[in-house]
Amino acid sequence: MDVSEVVQLERHDVVALVTVNNPPVNALSAAVRRGIFEQIKAAAADPQVQAIVLTCAGRTFIAGADITEFGKPPQPPGLNEVIAEIESCKKPVIAAIHGTALGGGLEVALGCHFRVATKDAKLGLPEVKLGLLPGAGGTQRLPRAVGPELAVKMIVEGNPIGADAALKAGLIEEIVEGPAAGAEAFARKVLAEKRPLRRLRDEDTKLAAAKADRSIFTNAVAAVTKKARGLEAPFAAADAVGAAIDLPFDEGLKKEREGFMKLVTGEQSKAQRYAFFAEREAAKVSGVPEGTKPRPVARVAIIGAGTMGGGIAMSFANAGIPVTLIETGDEQLKRGMGVMQKNYENTAARGGIPADAPAKRMGLITGVVGLENVKDADLVIEAVFETMAVKKDVFTALDKHAKPGAVLASNTSYLNINEIAAVTKRPQDVLGMHFFSPANVMKLCEIVRGEKTAPDVLMTAVAIAKKIAKVPVVVGVCDGFVGNRMLAQRGKQAEKLLYDGALPQQIDGVVTKFGLPMGPFAMGDLAGLDIGWRSRQDRGIKSPIGDALYEAGRHGQKTGKGYYKYETGSRAPLPDPEVEKMLDEVRAKLGVKGRTITDEEILERMVYPMINEGARILEEGIASRPSDIDIVWIYGYGWPVYRGGPMFYADHVGLKHIADRLSHYAKATNDPSLEPAPLLKKLAAEGKTFASLAASSKAT
Ligand code: 3HC
Ligand code: NAI
Repeated sequence: MDVSEVVQLERHDVVALVTVNNPPVNALSAAVRRGIFEQIKAAAADPQVQAIVLTCAGRTFIAGADITEFGKPPQPPGLNEVIAEIESCKKPVIAAIHGTALGGGLEVALGCHFRVATKDAKLGLPEVKLGLLPGAGGTQRLPRAVGPELAVKMIVEGNPIGADAALKAGLIEEIVEGPAAGAEAFARKVLAEKRPLRRLRDEDTKLAAAKADRSIFTNAVAAVTKKARGLEAPFAAADAVGAAIDLPFDEGLKKEREGFMKLVTGEQSKAQRYAFFAEREAAKVSGVPEGTKPRPVARVAIIGAGTMGGGIAMSFANAGIPVTLIETGDEQLKRGMGVMQKNYENTAARGGIPADAPAKRMGLITGVVGLENVKDADLVIEAVFETMAVKKDVFTALDKHAKPGAVLASNTSYLNINEIAAVTKRPQDVLGMHFFSPANVMKLCEIVRGEKTAPDVLMTAVAIAKKIAKVPVVVGVCDGFVGNRMLAQRGKQAEKLLYDGALPQQIDGVVTKFGLPMGPFAMGDLAGLDIGWRSRQDRGIKSPIGDALYEAGRHGQKTGKGYYKYETGSRAPLPDPEVEKMLDEVRAKLGVKGRTITDEEILERMVYPMINEGARILEEGIASRPSDIDIVWIYGYGWPVYRGGPMFYADHVGLKHIADRLSHYAKATNDPSLEPAPLLKKLAAEGKTFASLAASSKAT
C-alpha cells in the first residue's frame, strides 16, 4: 500500500500535520508504521516546517499495534524504530490525541515531545489484557512521564485513564477542543515560547524516589497483582517497569523487548488474542437480514427484585437507563431495593464509584408493585422464580399490559423459551436474556433466540446488552442453553468422582489450580444446596450425597455448612471431616469402594465432558461457533482467559487425545454418556480442530 494512503502529510505554513488514516481504529499496521516513519522524516527535512503535529482521522487516535500481525513474520520498520525517529526529531513533534490512545498508540505519543488530548480521550497500555507487555518503550517512558506508581497501575492492570487524570499526572500537557486544531495551536505556542523539546527517554526525575526506595515500586506491584493468579503477563510487565527504575533507558528498552518477545510467542498471549477477536465475533449475529435495526430502548421494566432482578436493574442504572422494578408486594420490593442500595453504598465506600453515584443510580430505579406497570417499557426482563407455571403466568400478564412492540425477555436459566413465548400473542417479540450472577458484575449475557424471535428483537437484545457493558452471545433453545448445559456435565462427573473416592477439596483444588475461580462444590455451597435439592425434587432426580447434605441441614454458606464448613462471618471453605464420614456412609450404601484418584483423572473428567457437550451443542446448532462457547465460559464462569475457553483448550490439547480419554472413561466408569460426540469423533479422526469449523447453526 502506498504510504500516503494511510498516512498523509500537509503543511499549514510552519506546522506540518501528519495524519494517520487507517480505519476503524488506526491500528499500527506495517503500512502505517512505514507511513509515519517516512512522513515524519519528510516533515523534518522540509525547511519550511518548524513543528509537526501527529494526528489521526476517524473515531480515534492510534489504538495500538495491529493485533492481527502478531505471530506473523515482522515487517519493517519496527515500532521502536518509528518512535526513535519521532523522538530524535529536532523539531517539536506534538501528539494530538482523541478517542483512545492505547498500547502502541500511546507508545507513539510517548515518543512525541508533547501530547495534547481532547476532554473525552482515554489513554492506556492495555497489552496485559492480550497477555503481552508494552513492547515499544511504554514500560520505560510511561514511568518517566507519570512516575512508577501510576505507571505500574496502568501497565499491570491495563486500564486506561481519562484526559483529566492524564493532565494531572503529567502525561499530557493540555486538554484541547479539536485534536488537530488544538495541537496546531499548541505547536505555535511551543515555537513562540521556544520551549525545549521533552524527550522522555532523558527524563529521570520522576524515577528518583523509587530508585532511592525500591519499596515504592514493590508495594505498587503487590497492590495490582493480587488478582493476577495464573497469568504471566502482569508479572512480566511489572518486571519491565522495574527495569526502568534499575537500568539506563536503552538497557531497560532491551529488557522490555525480551519480555515482549517471550510473551508474544507464548501460549497465554495466543489464547488471549484469540479471546479478543472471539468476543468481537460473538457480537456478529449471522442469519439476520442486513440492515436490521434494533428497536429503540429508552425505558426498561424488570420483573422480580430478587438476586438476579436487582443485579440486572443495577446494570441498567449504571448505564444511565431508567428502570421500573416490579414485585409482588411491598415487602419484597423494600428488601430488593435495600439490597441494591447497600451494594452501591459498599462500592462507593471502597472508592469504586463516586460518592454521589448511589443516590444518582438508585434515582433511576423506580420500585412498584403490579405487572400493569410495564406499560411504558420498551424492554421487559422477567427474573421471577424458575418455574414454568410462574413464568407462563407472568408472560400472559405481560402480553396483556406491555405496549405493542415491546421486547419481552426471560432471564430463565434452563426453561424453554418457545414454550414461554407460546402463551403470548406476540412470540416474535419474546426471547431469553440470560444474565449471570452477580448480574451487576458478570459480563456475559446469553441471548436465547426462540424459534419465532424476530430478527430486530434479537438485534435489540444484542445492542442493549452491549450498551450496558455486557458481552452478548446468541444461543439457541435447549435445557440450560450453552453454559449451564455444559456445566451440568461437569457437575455430574464431580458427583461421580466423590463416589469413586475423591473429596470435594481435592476436586475443587484441581479446578482452581487449572484457573477457574471456584470448584463445583464451593460453587454449590455459595449458590445454596437447597436450590439444587429443590430442582432435583421438581425433576425427580436423586443425588445421594446432595440429598444427604440437604437433609442434614447443610445448605451451604447460608447455614455455615455444606460440602465444606464455614467459620462465622467467613466465606472461606474449610474441609470438614464430617463430610468425609457422610461420603463413606453414602459409598457404603451404594455398595461402592472409594479408590485413590489422581489429579490428572479429575482434571480430565472435569473438563473433557464439558468439551464433549460443547461438541453436541455445535452439532445441534445451539451455538454458531466454537468461539461463542469459549466466550460464554470466559465471561459467564471465569474460565481462565489465558486458556482461551474450553473449545480453544480442546484444540490445544488435541481432539484425538480428548476423544480417546473420553472413550476410556466411558468404559472405565461404565458411563456411556462419556462416549465422544459424533462431531468430536469426526474431527479427531480427520486430525482437525474445532477452529476449523465454519459458522453454521440454528442460533444464527
Ligand atoms: N488491531 C487489529 N484490529 C483491531 C485492533 C487492533 N489493535 N483494535 C480493534 N481492532 C478491530 C476489531 O477487531 C474490530 O474489528 P471488526 O469490526 O472486524 O470486528 C474493529 O477494530 C473495531 O473494534 P471494536 O469493535 O473493539 O470497537 P470499539 O469502538 O468497541 O473499541 C477499542 C475500540 C477501544 C480501540 C477496542 O477495539 C480495543 O480495545 N482495541 C484493542 C486495543 C489494544 O489492545 N491495543 C494494544 C494492542 S497491543 C500493542 O499495542 C503492542 C505494542 O505495545 C507493541
Ligand atoms: P429470587 O428468588 O432471588 O428472586 C425472584 C423474585 O421474583 C422474588 O423477589 C419474587 O418475589 C419475585 N417474583 C416472583 N413472582 C413474581 C411476579 N409474578 N411478579 C413480580 N415478581 C415476582 O430468584 P433469582 O435467583 O433472582 O432467579 C430469578 C430468575 O433468574 C430465575 O429464572 C433463575 O433461574 C434465573 N437465574 C438465576 C441465577 C442465579 O444465580 N440466582 C443466574 C441466572 C439466572
